[in-house]
Amino acid sequence: MNDTERIAQLRTILHRLNHEYYVLNAPSVTDREFDEMMHELQQLEQLHPECYDPNSPTQRVGSDLSNDFATVVHKRPMLSLSNTYNRQEVADFYQRVSEGLHGQPFDVCCELKFDGLSISLHYEHRRLVRAVTRGDGEKGDDVTANVRTIRSIPLELPVDTDCPDTFEIRGEVLMPWASFDRLNQQRQEAEEPLFANPRNAASGTLKSKDSRVVAGRGLDAYLYYLLGDELPATGHYQCLLAARQWGFQVSRHIRLAHSLQEIYDYIDYWDQERHHLPIATDGIVLKVNSFAQQRSLGLTAKSPRWAIAYKFQAEQAQTTLRQVVFQVGRTGAVTPVANMDPVLLAGTTVRRATLHNADVLEALQLHVGDQVLVEKGGEIIPKIVGVAQESLDNPDRGLPIHFPAHCPACGHRLVHYEGEAAHYCPNETGCTPLILGRIEHFISRKAMNISSLGPETVDEYYRQGLIRDAADLYQLSGLQLGNDQQRVKKILQSVAESRQVPFERVLFAIGIRFVGEIAAKALARHFGSMEALAAASVDDLLQVGGIGMVIAESVRAYFHDPSNRDFVSRLAAHGLQMQLSEAHRQAQSDRLSGKSVVISGVFARHSRDEYKTLIEQHGGRNVGSISAKTSFVLAGENMGPAKLEKARKLGVPLMSEDEFLALIQG
Ligand code: IVH
Repeated sequence: MNDTERIAQLRTILHRLNHEYYVLNAPSVTDREFDEMMHELQQLEQLHPECYDPNSPTQRVGSDLSNDFATVVHKRPMLSLSNTYNRQEVADFYQRVSEGLHGQPFDVCCELKFDGLSISLHYEHRRLVRAVTRGDGEKGDDVTANVRTIRSIPLELPVDTDCPDTFEIRGEVLMPWASFDRLNQQRQEAEEPLFANPRNAASGTLKSKDSRVVAGRGLDAYLYYLLGDELPATGHYQCLLAARQWGFQVSRHIRLAHSLQEIYDYIDYWDQERHHLPIATDGIVLKVNSFAQQRSLGLTAKSPRWAIAYKFQAEQAQTTLRQVVFQVGRTGAVTPVANMDPVLLAGTTVRRATLHNADVLEALQLHVGDQVLVEKGGEIIPKIVGVAQESLDNPDRGLPIHFPAHCPACGHRLVHYEGEAAHYCPNETGCTPLILGRIEHFISRKAMNISSLGPETVDEYYRQGLIRDAADLYQLSGLQLGNDQQRVKKILQSVAESRQVPFERVLFAIGIRFVGEIAAKALARHFGSMEALAAASVDDLLQVGGIGMVIAESVRAYFHDPSNRDFVSRLAAHGLQMQLSEAHRQAQSDRLSGKSVVISGVFARHSRDEYKTLIEQHGGRNVGSISAKTSFVLAGENMGPAKLEKARKLGVPLMSEDEFLALIQG
């Protein structure tokens, strides 16, 4: 067998294994065998750029090509469904259909309503050719590159698949709870804003410009609507069963109902059972099964007459609003939080609900003492959705609640940045929650890791006047800290030990806005010392891999402020690491001096930005595109075929990441 044949064979096998694993949940080989075959395919594809195929199983990792989504007009508009909320409305639908069909018997396909975003997939000759979002129903975004990374969506159907030459299949892209929780956990650690629910997370992810981001987020998809000129059956349900046979993930919970009672049974069952599903659902979809009957019922402008959605009641409770407090977070963002009389909701006792921001608060028009309606919908945190009629009618309502113009903690006027919903207290050096937040960040695990101190202790020391900022931690003495000798010793020791924490983490710890762990590392390695960084211009900063305008300007602004400079020099005086250690410095060399290096592909050991920094640290230059002057290409997995071809033509050598690391380590 030659390489080309082997590539074809591996692709077929891997498509099948992928289906077994992600759709059937029944893998027939071990992960290791799977990985080995994938690896072999990757290597062969690298040797044979002419065999490039965007639908190859190797392409699921995404690429760094920026996605600018083209707009695509839907061949058949993507309609939405009209909603119903109770049995009566379902009965009305059933009655309308029955009348529309002049009393003919009919079946209804009952399905879960997945809470994600709808997608239209087009297949030609068994291959996925295009994936388009719903958009406005008439036209949507071409998100094919991103959709290719979703493992449960087949890129290619097996040769013997009995499907039409061309067809469209629609469904829902969603983020399972497990992926959602993991993503929000990561975002919390990185102090990035959390996604409110899996639907927002799925939609934000699918519209990402970088398909590698999509590949890492664990999206999934269920298909629920087959369209085309030649369909395998005369009914919707049977078509879905056929699509499942072809390899699509079709829900196991679709049922045909022959009466209104069977529809009610389905609704009642899932109203409870849905809480045990690994994905979010927000209702049931009911579709008249026969295509002939669907045609005879027809469409309205917005939705078909042959289908409706029944929305689950979000669990709701009523209780008394006691007060709204305005919490000032570490970043200065002010969040209104409602305190209520405890009430049981979806299995937990709820006392507090976030009101998110000024817009949400003002829209609710709350008054102290109101009877409020609290809901737990797709969101995890309960929210107030409205005021009960009895309070609206009450002539003796309490005082109206408004968002403050000034910081509830320090009185400074709040600011509101263009395009952001939050209001912020900008008083970084004078507002207690901001100061405490900065100290807490300073001592946190990924920063100075002063583990013997926690938020309560920091709070206590601050209130006793022992510390005003993090630098004061280094002049605490045992005498001030109370009688618990053991504890005092531990605290002093871990403060002292933090003097050895490397420069890059000190840089992260001082809390320059937008400078997270990764940026701090890049800046530390590039500039080598706090002094050099403080002296850097915006242009200097922009030279660093991974540093854009927002970070560059924030760093400049930080060092421009005398109180920050004073803080940093006090830290220096206390002996903190203000420059790269000798070991780090020695890691630098001139082994790449005079070399210009192109980085391409996906890497296992370091990120692209880290490689960029490494190239610079060793005297080389990282350039964007291959030319005759390029010394070599640092080539990862899945390097683009165009780049491969160009390198080959110009005789530019490729170097793997292992070879590269060996080279710079001498
Ligand atoms: S069928 C003409 N089936 O709900 C019928 N939609 O409000 C088109 N959805 O845009 C849709 N689960 O995003 C259908 N089993 C299901 C669904 C479903 C979720 C979403 C879909 C659609 C919206 C309609």
